[in-house]
Amino acid sequence: MFQAPYGTHDILPEDQTYWSFLKEKIESLAPLYGYERIDTPIFEEAGLFVRTVGVDTDIVEKEMYTFADRSGGQMTLRPEGTASVCRAYIEHGMASRSQPVKLFYQAPIFRYERPQAGRYRQHHQFGFEAIGDGDAMLDAELIDMAWRFFDSLGLKNLTLQINSIGCPKCRPAYLAKLREYYAGHKEVLCGDCKGRFDKNILRLLDCKKPTCQPLTTSAPRSVEHLCQECAEHFEQLKTHLSTLQLPFEINSSMVRGLDYYTKTVFEIQPEDERGQSTIAGGGRYDGLIGELGAKPTPAVGFATGIERIILNLKKQKVAMPNAQKSTVFIAWLGEVARQTAVKLSGELRQMNIASLITYTPRSLKAQMRQADSAGCNYVAIIGEEEVAQGNVTLRDLRTAKQEPVALAKLVEKLQEIH
Ligand code: HAM
Repeated sequence: MFQAPYGTHDILPEDQTYWSFLKEKIESLAPLYGYERIDTPIFEEAGLFVRTVGVDTDIVEKEMYTFADRSGGQMTLRPEGTASVCRAYIEHGMASRSQPVKLFYQAPIFRYERPQAGRYRQHHQFGFEAIGDGDAMLDAELIDMAWRFFDSLGLKNLTLQINSIGCPKCRPAYLAKLREYYAGHKEVLCGDCKGRFDKNILRLLDCKKPTCQPLTTSAPRSVEHLCQECAEHFEQLKTHLSTLQLPFEINSSMVRGLDYYTKTVFEIQPEDERGQSTIAGGGRYDGLIGELGAKPTPAVGFATGIERIILNLKKQKVAMPNAQKSTVFIAWLGEVARQTAVKLSGELRQMNIASLITYTPRSLKAQMRQADSAGCNYVAIIGEEEVAQGNVTLRDLRTAKQEPVALAKLVEKLQEIH
């Protein structure tokens, strides 16, 4: 038997309420902060991600779904959303629009990861990108939006962690310090970190292995090695976050897994699972647009993993609004009644009254059971007698009371009690 590919999943009807709940929340929140929806293709030229996410990141090294298309081009299923949005910003000349251009998306994301709870090979993100302004006020506004989003969902016990990882001016000196520090501990580093030592030293701070973790505590901190511009930016960010009353913590070992970040980085996590199930992450990426060959343009953004949010909503038992269910079940008995039932179902739906019906002849008892398990409130019963009298027997399933209602009056009656 075929199964969904390892690390992917079907979203069954019973889970769709979570998805529509989140979509509604995002769609009402985004305009409050001036964000407009953008959709980009599911695949892009592989080079786009190699150039922006970074050759030495896990994503590019071992997680991309890359394939040759029939004309020989190397294509990659989107492993994140930021690069595509920046590509679209450049391609559509959005630099000539009023800046910053604020865009949001809901997108499937593909990463060949080792699947486990909350980590999939296809997951979905809501992402927000604000392109064209370098002020820390924009970073704070974006973080505020992320925080308000989770608050509006009813999620509790989250932590907001921020850090600044500097810019191409100050980072090289900091990386040299970091390399010097880790060189003294090279023998205890895990295999991955030994590999990253030469290629991506910053990522050593992010290692969760028990042998490496204690080393991060006394490692040099990026916030203590910022140039004046980055230090001022970080100070302003903290001031604005305090003004917005956001309860942030500084986490000096948070560096993020993508190479494009400059200055601000941040993550939001459930309190009890530190680092294991980040539900939102992002930061500033002032070099990315320039890296793609356009005029250097500052930008900041974040994305949230939808499946991880849903896991947390379930864990915290956050109740979902009731989904709209069908109100009326049309139960019919006999071939003559079938025609009346077909006609009635059409009329009800035309009046926007949701109705269900049985297709293959069934006993009245079986149809009642079907109505009950579908969550219908009413059953309109049509048998030979009803056809002869031009009415239906309308049964309220909650009170078990029933009464005859003239067919011509049924729509009106249902609209009244609906
Ligand atoms: P990211 O941290 O790689 O950032 O992913 C964003 C969020 O997607 C994570 O915080 C997590 O909730 C979720 N996520 C990541 N990988 C998986 C997975 N394998 N399974 C389930 N959920 C996952 C980015 O992708 C950046 N593009 C964010 C950004 C936007 N930075 C600036 N703008």
